[in-house]
Amino acid sequence: MSRWIRWWKEQKCRTQTSPSSGQHPPERVTEPLLLRRGGIGLRARQLTRSFGTGQTRAIALQQVDLDLRYGEVHLLMGPSGSGKSTLLAVLSGLLRPDSGQVFALGKDIWRLSEEELEQFRLRYCSYIFQGYNLFPALTAREQLEIVLKWGEGCSPREARKRADIILGQLGLAHRAHLRPAELSGGEKQRVAIGRALVKNPSFIFADEPTAALDWDNGQHVMHLLCQCARQRGSMVLVVTHDPRLIPFADRVFELADGRLRDESSSPDPTLLVYEPTPLQRPSKKGPRLHLHASPKIPLHT
Ligand SMILES: Nc1ncnc2c1ncn2[C@@H]1O[C@H](COP(=O)(O)OP(=O)(O)OP(=O)(O)O)[C@@H](O)[C@H]1O
Ligand SMILES: [Mg+2]
Repeated sequence: MSRWIRWWKEQKCRTQTSPSSGQHPPERVTEPLLLRRGGIGLRARQLTRSFGTGQTRAIALQQVDLDLRYGEVHLLMGPSGSGKSTLLAVLSGLLRPDSGQVFALGKDIWRLSEEELEQFRLRYCSYIFQGYNLFPALTAREQLEIVLKWGEGCSPREARKRADIILGQLGLAHRAHLRPAELSGGEKQRVAIGRALVKNPSFIFADEPTAALDWDNGQHVMHLLCQCARQRGSMVLVVTHDPRLIPFADRVFELADGRLRDESSSPDPTLLVYEPTPLQRPSKKGPRLHLHASPKIPLHT
């Protein structure tokens, strides 16, 4: 994996290091209204997580410091077992770390009550997983509607309207009445993406969202995620093994044995920030989602 990142770096990417001392106070961000490109949306400090005890204990994360920004797409790469899914789960409020902090919206999410944490996940986060995690009994439209009804208390009418707008933008209007078993893999993944986008999330977490897709569909998914970051200001974090996704990213992080790898081998920095040159950005053609064009879906909740 480092080979690919090095290759990318050699393509005249600018490289810079970010602060890693862990002494920085969390940035005060009170509401998604204040979403702004480049501002820090999530800040992790000294995250540690292990599984099991005694001789079977596996350390999945070791003292991870990380800043993730609004309006940007971040890739998290690394070998199998290096802790990527664990880190994504800890950052997104799904898995409690053994120690360390995750700051979002001005608070350490792991100091919230269970109820507050649930609210954080429901209101501000969207998740996309490789296995789609769709409800087998619900149609494509209902998969989106249910998020709006549960998460935002939308009326059935409003939920249906918003679901249909997003499905239309995803090119799925004619598949809205079908259940997952009747959809192709690419269509299911687009429904899962639609479900993630329909609620205007501040934070989007995607664990290998393209792994089960062919390259065309994989690129389409990445285009959609990029649009969500650029047009809505969402923070997007994508776990992947696929180096072809690197040109889509604003920043690439690499995990090895539970630690963020420092390619420069200097003792202090724990993360590297890569900024692709314009030439390496993906073509703007392709995605059919034009979120800004929908007056019914505000850019910020
Ligand atoms: N629920 C669990 N119980 C025990 N060990 C676990 C559990 N989840 C993860 N681990 C261990 O933690 C380490 C990191 O796992 P993780 O799933 O985060 O890796 P990953 O980088 O996402 O791997 P992959 O690329 O294969 O998905 C591994 O050693 C794994 O065996
Ligand atoms: Mg994983």
